[in-house]
Amino acid sequence: MMPSQRLIGIDECEQMALKQVQDLYQNYVSRSQVSLTTTFGFGRVRVERAEGCWIYTADGRKVLDFTGGVGVLNHGHNHPRILAARQRFMDSRRMEVHKAFFSPYLAALSHNVAQVLPGDLNISYFPNSGAEANEGAIKMAYKYHDGQRQTILRADISFHGKTLGSGSITGSLENNFRFPGLPNIQVYQYGDMDSVRAAVAAARTSAGGCDVYAIMVEPYSASTLRSWSEEALRDLRELCTAERIMLIFDEVYTGWGKTGSLFYFMRYPGLIPDVLTYSKSFGGGKASISGYTARESVFRHAYDRLADVILHSTTYYGFGEETATAIEAVNIVVTEDFPGKARAIERMLEPGLERLRKQYPDVIASVSGVGALHGVELADGPKILNLAAKLGPSGFSGDPDFAKKLITLSVIAALYREHDILSYYSPNTGNPLMVAPPLVTGPDEVEYFLSCLEKVLAKGLTRLLTGFLKEKATSLW
Ligand SMILES: Cc1ncc(COP(=O)(O)O)c(C=O)c1O
Repeated sequence: MMPSQRLIGIDECEQMALKQVQDLYQNYVSRSQVSLTTTFGFGRVRVERAEGCWIYTADGRKVLDFTGGVGVLNHGHNHPRILAARQRFMDSRRMEVHKAFFSPYLAALSHNVAQVLPGDLNISYFPNSGAEANEGAIKMAYKYHDGQRQTILRADISFHGKTLGSGSITGSLENNFRFPGLPNIQVYQYGDMDSVRAAVAAARTSAGGCDVYAIMVEPYSASTLRSWSEEALRDLRELCTAERIMLIFDEVYTGWGKTGSLFYFMRYPGLIPDVLTYSKSFGGGKASISGYTARESVFRHAYDRLADVILHSTTYYGFGEETATAIEAVNIVVTEDFPGKARAIERMLEPGLERLRKQYPDVIASVSGVGALHGVELADGPKILNLAAKLGPSGFSGDPDFAKKLITLSVIAALYREHDILSYYSPNTGNPLMVAPPLVTGPDEVEYFLSCLEKVLAKGLTRLLTGFLKEKATSLW
């Protein structure tokens, strides 16, 4: 070790005061992130541990986590069966890097995924993030056509990730700087088959052939809480079959029970994409693992020959403990009936939020959602928007939605400060307050959330916003 080097060990890391952690973020991670997290997030709190839908902070608070880890925590924090699966893997000194040998975990996980998915969605690949899963699926679609087709379609409001490739097919407002990306992307209106047909027609070759190799679709858009109708999805499947376009369903957020069916598309029997992508709760809240699963005929046609075996791979694909964890995560989803749990949560949230909308029409513009994935869009008349713009901090003038975000943040802050509830907002269209609890959340917690939200909303947006901005101004700006 060089004389000037001083390395932090795990012991010391776990003992660090919050200030020390923030200083290290300032110096070695991102100053702007520190500023954002302390100003608008909960960066002034240190989390001690988390279990189920509860977070325990160092200052003794017990916080109800209604973020659902943005899709990661269907199983809640530290599900005992997930912990046991990982512990068992470690205690047995299993091998992580399996490339030169067959991995029983990778084999079993691929088998199980094929068992729970419909039709011939049988062949899987397991990288680590949603973006990687999407890019893998796109590569397969491109290869399926042997490079003969050049156009890919994405929706106007899509969210598929932030890497160069997946970012270039992301239309979300979150994606406000254009990096280089995939060539020949055409945009269709979300859920609108006329618009899809027009985009396919616009991409004909001079000989009249179809030039579209893939259409990216979020059957349920978690970031905007919008969905395709069943009829449109079935028409889309028919069009893709007729034109031999690879239909890719991105269920990275909505998978593993969150919307009340195992995957959102599975509520419609017989509807099968060519490739499905998923991630988040696939790792049981512990493992960073994602996946794409292709119809057998699609995979075989695209890749299944010796010359193509290494055309697509990543170092950490199908790693030992990640796949062991995912095996347990999927087993829990099935044996504990996560889709049923999401439907039970929906049966409380839907009428509960609708009642609040009717009760507070000046505060709530709309509510929408499915399963354990709901959102409350707050009213944003000119008066409240002007107030937010007048009292809010400078430095965000480039963000046209900033005033709207401040309004939603004032509700999030009140829920946290006054009721120990953690929530978040979607940075995509409308910036709704997201109500997306883990699927292990019980009826008492859902009831508690609804009653606290009511108490907060009863204050009215003007009071909430001015209170929030004053508190922030005195403490930070
Ligand atoms: C629908 C959807 N697709 C793709 C992604 C990207 O996943 P990741 O952040 O793991 O790359 C996300 C992430 O939130 C998502 O919600």
